[in-house]
Amino acid sequence: MSQGREICPGVYWTGVKNPDLQVFDELFPTRQGTTYNAYLVKGKDKTALIDTVKEEFSDEYFDILTSIIATEKIDLVVVNHTEPDHTGALEELVRRHPEIEIYCTRAADNFLKQLIDIPLKTHVVAEGDEIDLGGRTLRFILAPNLHWPDTMFTYLPEEEILFSCDAFGAHFCGDGLYDDEVGDFSGEYRFYFDTIMRPFKEKIREAVSKVASLPIRLVCPSHGPLRRQGAREAIDGYARMAAPPADEGLRALTLTLSPHGNTRTMAAAVRRGLEEFGVKVVELALYEAEEGEIRDELEQADALLVATPTINRDAPPPVWKALSLLSTVTPKGKVGGVFGSYGWSGEAVKQVEDRLTGLKYTLPEEGIHFRFKPTESDVQACQEFGRKIGRYLVDQSKAG
Ligand code: FEO
Repeated sequence: MSQGREICPGVYWTGVKNPDLQVFDELFPTRQGTTYNAYLVKGKDKTALIDTVKEEFSDEYFDILTSIIATEKIDLVVVNHTEPDHTGALEELVRRHPEIEIYCTRAADNFLKQLIDIPLKTHVVAEGDEIDLGGRTLRFILAPNLHWPDTMFTYLPEEEILFSCDAFGAHFCGDGLYDDEVGDFSGEYRFYFDTIMRPFKEKIREAVSKVASLPIRLVCPSHGPLRRQGAREAIDGYARMAAPPADEGLRALTLTLSPHGNTRTMAAAVRRGLEEFGVKVVELALYEAEEGEIRDELEQADALLVATPTINRDAPPPVWKALSLLSTVTPKGKVGGVFGSYGWSGEAVKQVEDRLTGLKYTLPEEGIHFRFKPTESDVQACQEFGRKIGRYLVDQSKAG
């Protein structure tokens, strides 16, 4: 059972702890559970909530709230983000207090109407809008796609507190509330970025730039410890992790799976063609490449080449597993190409092409596949395939 905690005069943490959680959202393993952070801010004239908690913790949440203030005396709730781990108790809040005003982004307004099927008194906010609570101000900073389109931060200038929604958070539940009370959770902070925020690096850079010059004494994220000792470092860490890749010329990544060496022979010829156009080629063998290595290279590559055999009418599982990482990163470029050797069918090349085009990749050349061991003319065709993609990259680069 969590207890509310006053984090500065009139500002309370009203979240709940879930130390036993082992997998968040049935997707992400947690070493030490998580927290669902929510907050209450009292001004002289009005009282506001910032977010609620996951629905299964509603009873605990309302016990905490009502130990601080009667529900009907709360004037408004700020919804920084509508994902159910933060709006799960909102419907019950509105049922208990139908007059409560809800402040959120346009996208959040749309999402709320699909998530909660009762009348809501919503107000859409714009960048920089403020609510005066009486001696305390809530200022809204839009942060779309960190990590949903609806996301925003709320800033309390009088106390220099940033309520940062999911950003800068961690799935970690310690005995204390603040970063200096709970021990090391740097691994969880990094894992959270990698698994939830990493596909949105450009949006992260935009959001970080909006808060870079703000005085911030305390970062209050939606999960994990409040950042009192490491407030600035929590933000700077995102700036570093979301930095764009260094511009070191054109680069292609080839992901190769080649049980009998034939697809690797093709990859070597494609590489020669790319190198004729000055493209640096990094080749990773999928039987041994680490996920982290693939992710890092995907973010530095202007082009992704997939060299896949066909086995049992399909691309083999290591190929699909590697492709599943594409939605977890911010690829530098979205140019692709697919090729491979096959035995008696050859469906994999087309299947992988469909996957890449589904992820908005441009395929300058139709994929090629050859039966068993490529002949000399097949090898020449592979080299020409590489040249065409290399030429496309160069032209694209010149066009800016
Ligand atoms: Fe913690 Fe995106 O919800």
